[in-house]
Amino acid sequence: MRIFSAVRPTGEIHIGNYLGSINQWIELQEQHDCYFAIADLHAITTPYDKNALKDKIFNLAVTYLSLGVNPDKCAFFVQSKVREHTELAWLIGTIVPVGELQRMTQFKDKSKQHKEYVNAGLLNYPILMAADILLYKAEGVPVGKDQKQHVEFARNAGEKFNKQFGECFPIPEPIIPTNQANIMSLRDPEHKMSKSGDQKGCINVFEEEDSLRKKIMSAETDTGKEIKFDLENKKGVSNLLSIYSAFSKIEIPALEQKYEGKSYAEFKKDLAELLILKLGEIKKKRDSYYKNPDIIFDMLDKGAEKAREKAQKTIEEVKQKMGL
Ligand code: TYM
Repeated sequence: MRIFSAVRPTGEIHIGNYLGSINQWIELQEQHDCYFAIADLHAITTPYDKNALKDKIFNLAVTYLSLGVNPDKCAFFVQSKVREHTELAWLIGTIVPVGELQRMTQFKDKSKQHKEYVNAGLLNYPILMAADILLYKAEGVPVGKDQKQHVEFARNAGEKFNKQFGECFPIPEPIIPTNQANIMSLRDPEHKMSKSGDQKGCINVFEEEDSLRKKIMSAETDTGKEIKFDLENKKGVSNLLSIYSAFSKIEIPALEQKYEGKSYAEFKKDLAELLILKLGEIKKKRDSYYKNPDIIFDMLDKGAEKAREKAQKTIEEVKQKMGL
């Protein structure tokens, strides 16, 4: 299967990104033809600091490599280095209705969040994302649940293109992890864990130990006592169980059994120590990469070269089909 996915270099990577998406990248690269991008063109649709962007891209690349992305097994590159992404976005943009863009949940949320910066790029965000996916004729797109709507948009765009101009794109399927489809904020389990939300509810992959312990220990639970997965009535506890299960690879029912009759505090303490252990291993790898920045840039350039090869072929085909 051909796979495409991407992440925006908008800040530190949190465990929601890790469990929602990166974890899957690492598994998929073992068996599939994978293209993974750092979506810098998507990152500039909301306010950002242009002087910090390069560092953020570098840090993200280091983080992903530390988490297990292997450039020998996939094409790992920066989106803006492969111009065909924007070229295909323009072409796709001519066949999708504006109304569909205006109805996108992320557009509605972000335009409320950044009232002063509702730019056309933000509205067209799903078009660029569809182009990212279709450019590689990807069949699978590993993402967190929050991006499902955007992948559906890409499916519609692909179908519409095929119908209008002749068979060209496979219709991509979202690949969403089952247990931990959406990791929620530790402070407000009604909302997903997010880089831009309440920092106390968000655990970064490189979170300091003390702060990690504090965040887990003060995570929102409920007035009950039972450690049970119940998304209706126990959102906070369910979220912690999802995190625990993903990091320990122990199924949720087995965890419920393990913590039967135990307190929230005991459960949280174990979870914090588990995270410290697992994230500590990743930190060690990161430190070794930081010592060799040139290797990282070199590797990203090679990834872009590999991606460009495929991208150019698709663009030629699309242009020809569209009569250009
Ligand atoms: P971004 O940078 O917001 O998030 C990167 C990935 O992490 C997932 N994610 C989560 N999963 C579970 N729980 C959470 N709390 C959580 N927060 C984030 C996201 O679903 C995503 O998979 N538009 C994309 C980037 C992108 C892309 C693409 C993805 C650009 N082009 C093409 C797939 C295909 C985004 O904003 O990701």
